[in-house]
Amino acid sequence: MRVLDRGDQLRKELDAARAAGRTVGLVPTMGALHQGHASLIRRSARECDLTAVTVFVNPLQFGPSEDLDSYPADLASDISVATAAGAALLFAPPVDDMYPGGRPGVTVHVAGVDMLEGASRPGHFDGVATVVAKLFNLAGPCRAYFGEKDWQQLGVVRRLAVDLSFPVEVVGCPTVREPDGLACSSRNGKLSPTEREAATVLYRALTAAAGEPDPRRRMAEVVAGEPLATLDYAEVVEDRLLIAARIGGVRLIDNMRVGV
Ligand code: PAJ
Repeated sequence: MRVLDRGDQLRKELDAARAAGRTVGLVPTMGALHQGHASLIRRSARECDLTAVTVFVNPLQFGPSEDLDSYPADLASDISVATAAGAALLFAPPVDDMYPGGRPGVTVHVAGVDMLEGASRPGHFDGVATVVAKLFNLAGPCRAYFGEKDWQQLGVVRRLAVDLSFPVEVVGCPTVREPDGLACSSRNGKLSPTEREAATVLYRALTAAAGEPDPRRRMAEVVAGEPLATLDYAEVVEDRLLIAARIGGVRLIDNMRVGV
């Protein structure tokens, strides 16, 4: 696997691959790669001739009081996870390559996201859509793999591809969990051992609420029973239960489909 740190190199490599008749798979990430990311990379490597993983902690999608400065980073480990999962390229640009001068003057705005993550994290999806638009522009025609773990983000990215006419097929992939049900997340490593145990409350709440007459209330009850957890939201959208909670200082999200 080759590591690139400039957008123009990524574009050149992927253009050359397509010119040689190869299909391209793109897996955008913020690094600290875990088994959830690896499942996206493996799927891309199965379905596409060349898989490019991107590792970029995008400052634009973090609020002023969020964990940008403490977001975990370990490029050496990311390189070995991406290699083992079948990636051919890893693109890890510095902030200045993605945003010359620090912050962009032109960004993408996402309308109609004033609930769930969009309500709790104002401006978050504008930041996500802006960086994903840049990655789609650099990558060119490809399939791009995103996780259902970030359900609302997956919907935003699908709309982004359609509304801005990117030649990208967005592929949603199922959530990968630890054996005790906790969804794999780069932020799980920030939990203390007792918080790590308490963090299973998100999955416990989702499974307890599935099939209940008032799932929102049931999720809230389960979270209230966990002293280390504070509920941010518990919602039902169409056929899906969605939950966000703070465990100590770490904010985690999860979701699950209910019914058929
Ligand atoms: P990040 O949190 O690193 O996640 C990268 C991709 O991995 C996302 O598509 C996310 O949904 C997926 N993912 C994370 N945990 C997963 C799990 N347990 N099972 C399956 N997939 C999982 O999401 C982002 O980065 C950023 O917002 C990004 C899209 C890269 C834009 O900066």
